[in-house]
Amino acid sequence: MILHSADTLSKKIEEAIQSISFDLKPASLFEPISYTLSVGGKRVRPLLALLATDMFDKEVDLSLKPAIGIEIFHNFTLLHDDLMDNSDMRRGMPAVHKKWDANTAILSGDAMLIESYKYVSSVPPAVLPEILGLFSKTAMEVCQGQQLDMDFEKRTDVTESEYLEMIVLKTAVLLACSLKMGALLAGASPRDAELLYTFGINIGLAFQLKDDLLDVYGDVKTFGKNIGGDIVSNKKTYLLIKALKTSGERQRTELLKWITAEKFDKNEKIESVKNIYNDLNLKSISENLIEKYYLAALDSLSLVHVADERKKELISLSENLMYREK
Ligand code: IPE
Ligand code: IPE
Ligand code: MG
Ligand code: MG
Ligand code: MG
Repeated sequence: MILHSADTLSKKIEEAIQSISFDLKPASLFEPISYTLSVGGKRVRPLLALLATDMFDKEVDLSLKPAIGIEIFHNFTLLHDDLMDNSDMRRGMPAVHKKWDANTAILSGDAMLIESYKYVSSVPPAVLPEILGLFSKTAMEVCQGQQLDMDFEKRTDVTESEYLEMIVLKTAVLLACSLKMGALLAGASPRDAELLYTFGINIGLAFQLKDDLLDVYGDVKTFGKNIGGDIVSNKKTYLLIKALKTSGERQRTELLKWITAEKFDKNEKIESVKNIYNDLNLKSISENLIEKYYLAALDSLSLVHVADERKKELISLSENLMYREK
């Protein structure tokens, strides 16, 4: 069968999401869910799942429902994440906890988590235990990563390897899970499913490194999130960890002053910390690391037992993600 283009699959995903109706009561619980899902986003995770199924020459509709389930789960994490990160803007629109309130973000988020399980469970009974096991393990890892991310805000001695472990959990495993799910639903061999999982971990590492970069160097209109939020909240991003490690005494003192300051002008803090990142050339150092994980991802993909022709769309999507501006 001819391979579907990523564009065709994206349209299919968007149609499926837009046709979900949350016409349930009370509206105060379900309206924020419709709002979140209708605002869009890149839909990367469901696309990865469908591309994985397509790669093995199986009908992509096999993985459409579980793929949508993963997207609903991802959107649930964003409701809680924006509340936890104090982020007011998401996809160029007010975050749910801003448009409504914190309680709404919590409970509508919880409802989305429940809904995501319904969708992920829509698979043939023979594969249900494996799919649910994979999804639940992944969902718990996302919580573990998210907690580490919060814990790290209060520390100044977070190492690069702790950071990498944290972003594997909070971000990479969900991309990897999407790919593995798509592969399993296509009846791929355990080895191929695992290779795609590893591919996803590496793409996910690059993806979060890029997200951290855009948080400093992105454009608010394109990125759809406020720039500098990570700096304001002392997130231990690769940039900050590297800055703390490679700065000279004067810069390090300045960095620590900003990190420990209780009262400060947000823009002044963002500008000052960004200047230190610039002085230390951290943007290109970070881009090199992104490239390293992208290449590692391609290595795993090259070992998957299907014709190179069938890997094309996945490769170009991954490449686009490395160079994205949103
Ligand atoms: C945002 O994910 C959270 C991260 C893991 C960086 P995306 O960048 O996939 O967000 P949307 O769904 O496209 O808005
Ligand atoms: C993404 O972390 C991880 C999860 C949403 C679980 P971020 O906090 O960096 O994501 P954004 O930048 O708010 O999208
Ligand atoms: Mg956030
Ligand atoms: Mg966060
Ligand atoms: Mg971010």
